[in-house]
Amino acid sequence: MRLAIIGSGYVGLVTGACLADFGHTVVCVDKSASRIDTLQRGKIPIYEPGLDAIVAQNMRDGRLSFTTDIAGSVKGADAVFIAVGTPSRRGDGHADLSYVYQAAREIAQALQDNTVVVTKSTVPVGTGDEVERIIHERRQSSVIKVASNPEFLREGSAIQDFKHPDRIVIGVEDEHARAVMAEIYRPLFLNKSPILFTSRRSAELIKYASNAFLAMKVTFINEISDLCEKVDADVQEVALGLGADNRIGPKFLHAGPGFGGSCFPKDAVALVKTAQDCDSPLRLIETTIAINDTRKRAMARRIIQAAGGNVRGKTIAVFGLTFKPNTDDMREAPSISIIQALQDAGANVSAYDPKGMDQARALWSDVAFHASPYEAARNASAICILTEWEQFRALDLQRLEKVVAQPVLVDLRNIYSEEEVTRFGFAYSGIGSRPRTPTHFTDLAAARERLVEAV
Ligand code: UDX
Repeated sequence: MRLAIIGSGYVGLVTGACLADFGHTVVCVDKSASRIDTLQRGKIPIYEPGLDAIVAQNMRDGRLSFTTDIAGSVKGADAVFIAVGTPSRRGDGHADLSYVYQAAREIAQALQDNTVVVTKSTVPVGTGDEVERIIHERRQSSVIKVASNPEFLREGSAIQDFKHPDRIVIGVEDEHARAVMAEIYRPLFLNKSPILFTSRRSAELIKYASNAFLAMKVTFINEISDLCEKVDADVQEVALGLGADNRIGPKFLHAGPGFGGSCFPKDAVALVKTAQDCDSPLRLIETTIAINDTRKRAMARRIIQAAGGNVRGKTIAVFGLTFKPNTDDMREAPSISIIQALQDAGANVSAYDPKGMDQARALWSDVAFHASPYEAARNASAICILTEWEQFRALDLQRLEKVVAQPVLVDLRNIYSEEEVTRFGFAYSGIGSRPRTPTHFTDLAAARERLVEAV
C-alpha cells in the first residue's frame, strides 16, 4: 500500500518507519525543512532505541522517504495518516487541535477519491467528524472517509509496542475504510495481534480512557505506598500481591515520584475538560491529576529531610532527569518540579542523565551538569535517583561514598534495597517502606556514635 504520514515527530516517525518495515511504501512529511533534511541524511532527531536501524534499512530499500511537499506526498496514497501534535491549549488544558485541522485543510485538495484519512494524533471525541467535515467542505465531495487509529506507543519501547501491540484499535464508519485499514495492519493480524474495529468516536475515547486509567493506576499505587510507610508495610510486596490478581494485573504498579511525560499529564487534563463540557465529570481523573501534582513537590521535601532538613547552600545530586528511562524526553518530568523545589529551598543542584542532558540544559541555566554520576555526586549532601536508567542500577557505591559530603541516597524509583546501600555506609530512603536504619545523615551519624559507645 502507498501511505503518507503527515507530521514526522515522535509518533509519525515511529509509525512511518514501522509501516515501511511491514512492506508498505511510506512517505513521511513535515513542515520543518531542517527536520526533513536531517531525516533525509539518515539522522534521527529523537532518541528512541532501534528506530535509527529501521529508518536506515527502509530508506535503503526504497520504502521510506521524507519530504516537505504535502500535496505531492498524498497524491496516489491509499491512506494518509495525520500524526501532528495535539499539545495542551494554553490557558484551559483542552487539546489544541489547530495542527490537526490545518493538516486536514492542507491535504483536502490533493487527496484522490477513496483515500482514507486516518487520525493517529491523540484527539478528543468528535474530532474525526470535524476532520471529515473540513475535507468534504474543501472538495465538495463526500467520498473521502476518516478513520481513527490511536497509538499506544511507550517512549523507549515504541518499536516493540508497534510491532507487538496488545490490540490495534480502528474506528471506522464505512466498509471501504475498514478494508483499507485491515490491509495496512494485515502483517500484525497474521502475527496474532487482535484488531478491534469500533465506531470512530469509541476509538477516540479508548485512547484517552486508556491513558487516564494507567495514570490512575500509577497514582493509586503511589498513594498506597505512602500508606505503607505509615503502617510499616512494603509497597513492593503489596504491588506483587495486588498485581497477581488477573483482574488487576502486575503492570503500572511501580510506586515512584509521580507520572510525567508527553501523554499522561496532557491527556488526563484534556479528558477531564471534555467530560466537564459534556456535564459528565470524571472525578477520579480530576483527583488523579491533583494528587500527582502535589506528589512531585512532596518528593523534594523528602529529599530535603533526608539531607538533614536544611539544604541551603548545600549540593544535592540528581541522577536521572528524563521522565522515564530510554528517552531524552523531559516533558512533564518529575525532575522539573523536584529541582525547582530544591532550588527554592536554597540547594545547589548538580545533575547527570544518560540521554536527557541536551534537553535539560535548555530548561535550566542554574543546574550544574556533569559527565558522570560520580562527578555529579561530588560534595553532595544527598544523592537522589529520579529516573530508573539501567546504568544507575549498578552504581559503584564505594566510589560514591568517597566523593559525597554526606552518604545519603534517596531512591525515588526503588531500584536499590536498603540492605545493599547501608552496607556501604549510606543512609537510604526509598519509596513505600519504613526504613530499618536512619534515613538521613545526621541520624546515621548519631546511630554510629551510639554503636561505638555501646561497643
Ligand atoms: C504512555 C502510554 O503508556 C502509551 O500507551 C501512550 O501512547 C503514551 O503515553 P509513555 O508516556 O511513553 O507512554 O510512558 P509510560 O511508560 O506509560 O509511563 C508514563 C509515566 O508513568 C512515566 O512518568 C513513568 O515513570 C510513570 N510510571 C509508569 C510509574 O511511575 N509507575 C509505573 O508502574 C509505570
